[in-house]
Amino acid sequence: MKSIFLVGFMGSGKTTIGKALADELGFQHFDLDVFIENKYHKTIAQIFSELGEKEFRRLEQMALMEVVDFEQCVISTGGGTPCFFDNMEQINAHGISFYLESDSDVLAERLFYKGCRRPLLAGKNKAELKNYIEQTIAKRLPFYQQAQVKIDANNTPKAIEQICAYLQNNF
Ligand code: S3P
Repeated sequence: MKSIFLVGFMGSGKTTIGKALADELGFQHFDLDVFIENKYHKTIAQIFSELGEKEFRRLEQMALMEVVDFEQCVISTGGGTPCFFDNMEQINAHGISFYLESDSDVLAERLFYKGCRRPLLAGKNKAELKNYIEQTIAKRLPFYQQAQVKIDANNTPKAIEQICAYLQNNF
């Protein structure tokens, strides 16, 4: 089976679902943010603050181009990964892509408590966060929708079940 790529907004469960799926399939799991952090010995927040978002996107593209060649992996991308350069085309050319779709209310609730390490969300109160999520998803949707399979990710355990069922039925 080809590698599996999980795409979706911050807080959609890409990392949690990716780890569970990799365990289930006996695949290796890669989280693109962690891959970048290990490669450059800096946190994502440090890369944003020291080098800026534009440079982060360049490093992210380079990291993606490394991991697309790995075989039998589950790759949890960053929330913005599919939306820059030809990243989504590369993902689809190299593997099976799942878009983890979650409602903005669910994301806002998850990210309000767990979003603090994410530079794009820093300093936002609940209302600002919800507004940012809605506006950003609207811009990103044309990229997320290029994923081959859409999964309802409002409930993480159910999303894992749905992906496993899809893979069993199709591969
Ligand atoms: C980003 C999402 C983050 C990380 C960076 C930018 C984004 O990854 O890549 O902070 O643009 O949505 P997660 O989706 O894993 O939080």
